[in-house]
Amino acid sequence: MNVNPTSLDQAPVPATTEKGLSFMSSERARFTFRHYWFDEVIRADWERLTQPLHGKKLQVLEIGCFEGASTTWILDNLMSHRESTLTSIDTFEGGMEHQEGDKANKYDIASLEGRFRANVAKCEHVGKLEVMKARSDDALVELRGKQAQFDFVYIDASHVAIDVLHDAVMSWRMLAMHGKMVFDDFTWKGYLEDCYNPRIAIQSFLHCAAPEVETKRVESQIWVTRVPNHTHPTPNPDPAHYYWDEDAGLKL
Ligand SMILES: C[S@@+](CC[C@H](N)C(=O)[O-])C[C@H]1O[C@@H](n2cnc3c(N)ncnc32)[C@H](O)[C@@H]1O
Repeated sequence: MNVNPTSLDQAPVPATTEKGLSFMSSERARFTFRHYWFDEVIRADWERLTQPLHGKKLQVLEIGCFEGASTTWILDNLMSHRESTLTSIDTFEGGMEHQEGDKANKYDIASLEGRFRANVAKCEHVGKLEVMKARSDDALVELRGKQAQFDFVYIDASHVAIDVLHDAVMSWRMLAMHGKMVFDDFTWKGYLEDCYNPRIAIQSFLHCAAPEVETKRVESQIWVTRVPNHTHPTPNPDPAHYYWDEDAGLKL
Protein backbone atom coordinates (compact mmCIF):
# COMPACT_ATOMS: atom_id res chain seq x y z
CA MET A 1 0.00 0.00 0.00
CA ASN A 2 1.41 3.36 -1.06
CA VAL A 3 0.78 5.37 2.09
CA ASN A 4 3.75 7.43 3.24
CA PRO A 5 3.42 9.79 6.19
CA THR A 6 6.37 12.06 5.42
CA SER A 7 8.65 14.43 7.24
CA LEU A 8 8.12 18.17 6.85
CA ASP A 9 11.71 19.00 7.70
CA GLN A 10 13.05 19.39 4.19
CA ALA A 11 10.64 21.84 2.59
CA PRO A 12 12.04 23.02 -0.76
CA VAL A 13 12.07 26.69 -1.68
CA PRO A 14 8.84 27.82 -3.43
CA ALA A 15 9.07 27.93 -7.22
CA THR A 16 7.14 31.16 -7.75
CA THR A 17 5.78 34.09 -5.81
CA GLU A 18 2.75 36.07 -6.91
CA LYS A 19 1.99 39.40 -5.23
CA GLY A 20 -0.56 42.18 -5.30
CA LEU A 21 -3.73 40.14 -4.82
CA SER A 22 -6.15 42.32 -2.86
CA PHE A 23 -8.07 39.44 -1.25
CA MET A 24 -4.87 38.06 0.33
CA SER A 25 -4.77 39.38 3.89
CA SER A 26 -1.36 40.33 5.23
CA GLU A 27 -1.09 37.09 7.21
CA ARG A 28 -1.96 35.03 4.10
CA ALA A 29 0.48 36.93 1.87
CA ARG A 30 3.38 34.88 3.27
CA PHE A 31 2.25 31.85 1.26
CA THR A 32 3.02 31.09 -2.38
CA PHE A 33 0.08 29.91 -4.44
CA ARG A 34 -0.65 29.40 -8.13
CA HIS A 35 -4.37 29.13 -7.45
CA TYR A 36 -6.23 31.54 -5.17
CA TRP A 37 -9.72 30.08 -5.13
CA PHE A 38 -9.74 29.32 -1.38
CA ASP A 39 -8.76 32.85 -0.39
CA GLU A 40 -10.73 34.66 -3.05
CA VAL A 41 -14.02 32.78 -2.81
CA ILE A 42 -14.44 30.74 0.34
CA ARG A 43 -12.12 31.90 3.13
CA ALA A 44 -14.55 34.51 4.51
CA ASP A 45 -17.26 31.84 4.82
CA TRP A 46 -14.87 29.45 6.53
CA GLU A 47 -13.88 32.18 9.00
CA ARG A 48 -17.54 32.74 9.87
CA LEU A 49 -18.69 29.11 9.93
CA THR A 50 -15.79 27.78 11.98
CA GLN A 51 -16.03 30.42 14.72
CA PRO A 52 -17.56 27.92 17.22
CA LEU A 53 -14.60 25.57 16.66
CA HIS A 54 -11.81 28.02 17.42
CA GLY A 55 -9.73 27.02 20.43
CA LYS A 56 -11.36 23.56 20.68
CA LYS A 57 -9.56 20.26 20.63
CA LEU A 58 -10.05 19.11 17.04
CA GLN A 59 -8.97 16.18 14.93
CA VAL A 60 -9.18 17.47 11.36
CA LEU A 61 -8.94 15.46 8.13
CA GLU A 62 -8.28 17.13 4.80
CA ILE A 63 -8.60 15.02 1.64
CA GLY A 64 -6.92 16.95 -1.18
CA CYS A 65 -4.57 19.76 -0.20
CA PHE A 66 -2.91 20.84 -3.50
CA GLU A 67 -0.42 23.64 -2.65
CA GLY A 68 -1.79 24.08 0.87
CA ALA A 69 -4.27 26.97 0.70
CA SER A 70 -6.81 25.21 2.89
CA THR A 71 -4.12 23.35 4.85
CA THR A 72 -2.36 26.54 5.92
CA TRP A 73 -5.67 28.15 6.84
CA ILE A 74 -6.62 25.16 9.00
CA LEU A 75 -3.17 25.15 10.63
CA ASP A 76 -3.40 28.86 11.44
CA ASN A 77 -7.02 28.88 12.59
CA LEU A 78 -8.13 25.49 13.90
CA MET A 79 -5.00 24.09 15.53
CA SER A 80 -4.54 26.36 18.57
CA HIS A 81 -5.50 23.68 21.11
CA ARG A 82 -2.35 21.82 22.04
CA GLU A 83 -3.94 18.40 21.35
CA SER A 84 -5.45 19.28 17.98
CA THR A 85 -4.18 17.48 14.88
CA LEU A 86 -4.50 17.79 11.11
CA THR A 87 -4.16 14.84 8.75
CA SER A 88 -3.84 15.83 5.08
CA ILE A 89 -4.02 13.35 2.21
CA ASP A 90 -2.79 14.04 -1.32
CA THR A 91 -0.94 12.27 -4.11
CA PHE A 92 0.59 15.64 -5.10
CA GLU A 93 0.08 14.55 -8.71
CA GLY A 94 -2.88 16.85 -9.33
CA GLY A 95 -6.35 15.70 -10.31
CA MET A 96 -7.40 14.73 -13.84
CA GLU A 97 -8.60 18.33 -14.38
CA HIS A 98 -5.02 19.51 -13.79
CA GLN A 99 -3.82 17.42 -16.74
CA GLU A 100 -6.11 19.14 -19.27
CA GLY A 101 -4.56 21.50 -21.85
CA ASP A 102 -1.76 23.62 -20.39
CA LYS A 103 -2.98 23.32 -16.78
CA ALA A 104 -0.12 21.14 -15.59
CA ASN A 105 2.16 24.03 -16.61
CA LYS A 106 -0.13 26.78 -15.38
CA TYR A 107 -0.37 25.24 -11.90
CA ASP A 108 3.20 23.93 -12.05
CA ILE A 109 2.14 20.46 -10.93
CA ALA A 110 5.78 19.33 -11.07
CA SER A 111 6.57 21.54 -8.06
CA LEU A 112 3.22 21.07 -6.29
CA GLU A 113 4.52 19.06 -3.37
CA GLY A 114 7.48 21.40 -2.83
CA ARG A 115 5.15 24.40 -2.83
CA PHE A 116 2.84 22.67 -0.34
CA ARG A 117 5.69 21.80 2.01
CA ALA A 118 7.20 25.28 1.82
CA ASN A 119 3.80 26.82 2.62
CA VAL A 120 2.92 24.62 5.60
CA ALA A 121 6.45 25.05 6.99
CA LYS A 122 5.57 28.73 7.58
CA CYS A 123 2.75 27.82 9.98
CA GLU A 124 3.30 27.85 13.74
CA HIS A 125 1.38 24.59 14.20
CA VAL A 126 3.04 22.62 11.41
CA GLY A 127 4.12 20.04 14.01
CA LYS A 128 0.47 18.99 14.34
CA LEU A 129 0.27 18.10 10.65
CA GLU A 130 0.62 14.56 9.35
CA VAL A 131 0.85 14.30 5.57
CA MET A 132 -0.22 11.07 3.90
CA LYS A 133 1.18 11.10 0.39
CA ALA A 134 -1.17 8.58 -1.12
CA ARG A 135 -4.38 8.03 -2.99
CA SER A 136 -7.26 8.79 -0.69
CA ASP A 137 -8.79 5.33 -1.06
CA ASP A 138 -5.59 3.77 0.33
CA ALA A 139 -5.04 6.40 3.02
CA LEU A 140 -8.62 6.26 4.30
CA VAL A 141 -8.49 2.48 4.63
CA GLU A 142 -5.31 2.87 6.67
CA LEU A 143 -6.89 5.52 8.90
CA ARG A 144 -9.98 3.33 9.43
CA GLY A 145 -7.67 0.47 10.37
CA LYS A 146 -6.16 2.70 13.06
CA GLN A 147 -9.67 3.58 14.31
CA ALA A 148 -9.09 7.26 13.62
CA GLN A 149 -11.90 9.70 14.49
CA PHE A 150 -12.34 13.22 13.19
CA ASP A 151 -14.34 16.29 14.16
CA PHE A 152 -13.97 18.08 10.84
CA VAL A 153 -13.42 16.60 7.37
CA TYR A 154 -12.77 18.56 4.19
CA ILE A 155 -13.33 16.57 0.98
CA ASP A 156 -11.59 18.18 -1.99
CA ALA A 157 -9.43 15.55 -3.76
CA SER A 158 -10.42 13.68 -6.91
CA HIS A 159 -13.55 15.18 -8.51
CA VAL A 160 -14.49 11.87 -10.17
CA ALA A 161 -17.87 10.96 -8.70
CA ILE A 162 -17.04 7.43 -7.58
CA ASP A 163 -13.89 8.74 -5.81
CA VAL A 164 -15.86 11.48 -4.05
CA LEU A 165 -18.43 8.90 -2.96
CA HIS A 166 -15.72 6.65 -1.57
CA ASP A 167 -14.05 9.55 0.25
CA ALA A 168 -17.41 10.56 1.71
CA VAL A 169 -18.48 7.12 2.92
CA MET A 170 -15.10 6.23 4.39
CA SER A 171 -14.67 9.50 6.22
CA TRP A 172 -18.31 9.52 7.39
CA ARG A 173 -17.50 6.31 9.26
CA MET A 174 -14.77 8.24 11.08
CA LEU A 175 -16.72 11.45 11.72
CA ALA A 176 -17.69 12.13 15.32
CA MET A 177 -21.30 12.89 16.22
CA HIS A 178 -21.88 16.65 15.74
CA GLY A 179 -18.76 16.72 13.57
CA LYS A 180 -18.68 18.60 10.26
CA MET A 181 -17.93 17.37 6.77
CA VAL A 182 -17.41 19.90 3.99
CA PHE A 183 -17.66 19.02 0.31
CA ASP A 184 -16.06 21.32 -2.21
CA ASP A 185 -17.17 21.68 -5.82
CA PHE A 186 -20.83 20.70 -5.55
CA THR A 187 -21.58 22.95 -8.55
CA TRP A 188 -18.37 22.27 -10.47
CA LYS A 189 -18.94 20.90 -13.97
CA GLY A 190 -15.51 20.35 -15.43
CA TYR A 191 -16.83 17.55 -17.63
CA LEU A 192 -20.06 16.99 -19.50
CA GLU A 193 -20.55 13.50 -18.05
CA ASP A 194 -21.94 13.47 -14.48
CA CYS A 195 -19.64 10.60 -13.51
CA TYR A 196 -16.57 12.93 -13.75
CA ASN A 197 -18.00 15.65 -11.50
CA PRO A 198 -18.63 15.53 -7.71
CA ARG A 199 -22.30 16.51 -7.75
CA ILE A 200 -24.01 13.10 -8.14
CA ALA A 201 -21.69 11.59 -5.53
CA ILE A 202 -22.53 14.30 -3.00
CA GLN A 203 -26.25 13.98 -3.72
CA SER A 204 -26.12 10.17 -3.47
CA PHE A 205 -24.20 10.35 -0.23
CA LEU A 206 -26.65 12.85 1.26
CA HIS A 207 -29.59 10.59 0.31
CA CYS A 208 -27.93 7.59 1.94
CA ALA A 209 -26.86 9.42 5.09
CA ALA A 210 -30.17 11.34 5.34
CA PRO A 211 -31.13 10.11 8.83
CA GLU A 212 -28.04 11.71 10.35
CA VAL A 213 -27.35 14.84 8.30
CA GLU A 214 -28.08 18.52 8.42
CA THR A 215 -26.85 20.39 5.39
CA LYS A 216 -26.10 23.93 4.40
CA ARG A 217 -24.99 25.13 0.98
CA VAL A 218 -22.29 27.81 1.05
CA GLU A 219 -21.15 29.05 -2.36
CA SER A 220 -20.20 25.89 -4.23
CA GLN A 221 -19.64 23.94 -1.02
CA ILE A 222 -21.95 21.74 1.02
CA TRP A 223 -21.44 21.83 4.79
CA VAL A 224 -22.79 18.75 6.54
CA THR A 225 -23.23 18.32 10.28
CA ARG A 226 -23.62 14.82 11.68
CA VAL A 227 -26.62 14.74 14.02
CA PRO A 228 -28.41 11.95 15.94
CA ASN A 229 -30.78 9.90 13.78
CA HIS A 230 -33.87 11.97 13.03
CA THR A 231 -35.50 9.75 10.37
CA HIS A 232 -36.58 6.43 11.80
CA PRO A 233 -37.44 3.52 9.47
CA THR A 234 -41.11 3.03 8.54
CA PRO A 235 -41.83 -0.59 7.55
CA ASN A 236 -43.43 -0.93 4.13
CA PRO A 237 -47.10 -1.87 4.78
CA ASP A 238 -47.31 -3.73 1.45
CA PRO A 239 -44.59 -6.38 1.16
CA ALA A 240 -45.43 -6.77 -2.56
CA HIS A 241 -44.52 -3.15 -3.15
CA TYR A 242 -41.02 -3.05 -4.67
CA TYR A 243 -39.03 -0.42 -6.51
CA TRP A 244 -40.30 -1.76 -9.82
CA ASP A 245 -42.34 -0.21 -12.55
CA GLU A 246 -43.90 -2.99 -14.64
CA ASP A 247 -44.37 -0.77 -17.68
CA ALA A 248 -41.02 0.93 -17.73
CA GLY A 249 -38.96 -1.95 -16.32
CA LEU A 250 -36.35 -1.39 -13.65
CA LYS A 251 -35.30 2.20 -14.08
CA LEU A 252 -31.60 2.97 -13.78
C1 LIG B 1 -8.75 20.83 -5.86
S1 LIG B 1 -7.20 20.35 -5.25
C2 LIG B 1 -7.32 20.63 -3.51
C3 LIG B 1 -7.37 22.09 -3.16
C4 LIG B 1 -7.20 22.43 -1.70
N1 LIG B 1 -8.16 21.76 -0.85
C5 LIG B 1 -7.31 23.92 -1.50
O1 LIG B 1 -8.34 24.40 -1.03
O2 LIG B 1 -6.37 24.61 -1.84
C6 LIG B 1 -7.29 18.60 -5.38
C7 LIG B 1 -6.07 17.84 -4.89
O3 LIG B 1 -6.44 16.49 -4.76
C8 LIG B 1 -5.36 15.67 -5.16
N2 LIG B 1 -5.95 14.39 -5.60
C9 LIG B 1 -6.66 14.13 -6.73
N3 LIG B 1 -7.06 12.86 -6.73
C10 LIG B 1 -6.63 12.29 -5.58
C11 LIG B 1 -6.75 11.02 -5.00
N4 LIG B 1 -7.44 10.02 -5.61
N5 LIG B 1 -6.19 10.79 -3.80
C12 LIG B 1 -5.50 11.78 -3.17
N6 LIG B 1 -5.34 13.02 -3.67
C13 LIG B 1 -5.91 13.27 -4.86
C14 LIG B 1 -4.65 16.42 -6.24
O4 LIG B 1 -3.29 16.07 -6.27
C15 LIG B 1 -4.87 17.88 -5.81
O5 LIG B 1 -3.75 18.36 -5.12
